[in-house]
Amino acid sequence: MQTKILTTSNEDIKTAAEIIKSGGLVAFPTETVYGLGANALDAAAVKKVYAAKGRPSDNPMIVHIASVSDLDRLASERSAVAMSLMDHFWPGSLTLVLNKGQEVPDIVTGGSDTVAVRMPDDAVALALITAADRPIAAPSANLSGKPSPTKPSHVMDDLSGKIDAIIAGNDCRVGIESTVLDVTGETLVILRPGIVTKEDIEAVSGVHVEFDPALLKEEPQNDKTEDFKPKSPGMKYKHYAPKARMMVIEGHRDNVKSEIERARKQSEITGDRVGVILFEEKAFAEAAHDFFAKLRELDEQGVDLILAGALSDTDGVGFAVMNRMLKSSGYNIVRV
Ligand code: TXA
Ligand code: MG
Repeated sequence: MQTKILTTSNEDIKTAAEIIKSGGLVAFPTETVYGLGANALDAAAVKKVYAAKGRPSDNPMIVHIASVSDLDRLASERSAVAMSLMDHFWPGSLTLVLNKGQEVPDIVTGGSDTVAVRMPDDAVALALITAADRPIAAPSANLSGKPSPTKPSHVMDDLSGKIDAIIAGNDCRVGIESTVLDVTGETLVILRPGIVTKEDIEAVSGVHVEFDPALLKEEPQNDKTEDFKPKSPGMKYKHYAPKARMMVIEGHRDNVKSEIERARKQSEITGDRVGVILFEEKAFAEAAHDFFAKLRELDEQGVDLILAGALSDTDGVGFAVMNRMLKSSGYNIVRV
């Protein structure tokens, strides 16, 4: 199949919407990362998304909407807290896990009785959902296990020839995926951290928010770990991995810098090509924006080893970036 490259013109968005309506797959920009969209109410279309990505089918997808009224078809109830979060954060980078309505095919939710929904804060994404006139199920538009795509070229590198079209828009403004918040229980639980932080959600909801305990463990977590049963099935798979070996160096900033320098020199003696990721201190939004793109860039350069400096402050957005960094390294951490 030849992947059509579409622009963000109204006419091209209409073309993309027609592809979605007829059961095809379209990659499109959101403010977080590029998504790979299919009609969320069409089980056969959603099945093709799993195939194109090589994604395990028990890993559910986020359903994207353009108006809160779209929720009527998707969720069976909304609590007052959920409504206040939607009011405040939508459109935006917060995904809410809600009790699923009957119209949502099981394949979207991996058989779970909950559904993850968000309204993206991107004009092109919203125009596409509106033109398609149906909710769009969309995981990140990368091959399963690879870094999430923040530019159209990342999507083409992974999925060219496997999907019907891409709307090749701007680079993504945020750069890491949305915060996933489970609002179905007594307590609000963050299943995946993002730029909408625990503190942001607590300030708006007025209630205490917890992290899924799986997020607080600094060790490899995969399906072989017996006691590891995350609520968000996506958390258990190998994620965001570059081709190169990767090591995260954690500690006082000066020590991190000198360890990176030492390890770089040593690796170069043995003939390894080394790439370094070291963000400015406290520049968390910039780190979020650049991290996945940097991994792909270093892979393209063909480095053998990536040395990444851990962020020094891991509250809020820094915590979300560190979650991605640790996972992409396979929890290969050196403390200095
Ligand atoms: O920013 C984003 O969220 C991007 C853009 C395209 O919107 N999408 C994205 O989708 O990151 P994906 O499929 O790569 O990640 C979705 C995450 C996975 O970890 C999945 O397990 C979790 O959300 N998830 C989806 N439905 C869920 C549910 N019903 N309950 C718990 N976790 C769910
Ligand atoms: Mg993903």
